[in-house]
Amino acid sequence: PVEQTLATIKPDALEGHRDEIMEEIKGAGFVISQIKETCLDREMAEEFYKEHKGKPFFEQLVDYMCQGPSLMMILSKENAVNEWRALMGPTDPEVAQSTAPGSLRSKFAKSILQNGLHGASNEEHAVEKIKFVFGDIDLERVDVID
Ligand code: CMP
Repeated sequence: PVEQTLATIKPDALEGHRDEIMEEIKGAGFVISQIKETCLDREMAEEFYKEHKGKPFFEQLVDYMCQGPSLMMILSKENAVNEWRALMGPTDPEVAQSTAPGSLRSKFAKSILQNGLHGASNEEHAVEKIKFVFGDIDLERVDVID
């Protein structure tokens, strides 16, 4: 069955590598069902990453996400949550380079913090983050955006 996930191109990667990343997403067979370029404010970034509240890197993560516009997307594909995580590669670019060469983070992440891309970690988070970013949209309706 077709699944949906929330994918984010973070500010530095959007500024530096937007076109290459979009090509890779389409080339990997994802359908972009919704897309929104938005500058998160601190409150939104804190809510978006609430699972990480209290971690030592949380404030830096919020700073990073607020440094410019991010691109938020709903990606649709069979097994989209895991497929998107696989295309991104591991959180840490050093690990990505050694274990997932060719992954987006192996190419575009600058550090474990400034790692360029985000994806929901499971289906439940995907639904929650999609609602947070796009509001109460009908997830059964899959639009195709070129
Ligand atoms: P993301 O997949 O968006 O989920 C949480 C983010 O926190 C992660 O990508 C990184 O940007 C950041 N992050 C995770 N672990 C660390 C860490 N150990 N040090 C700094 N930043 C981290």
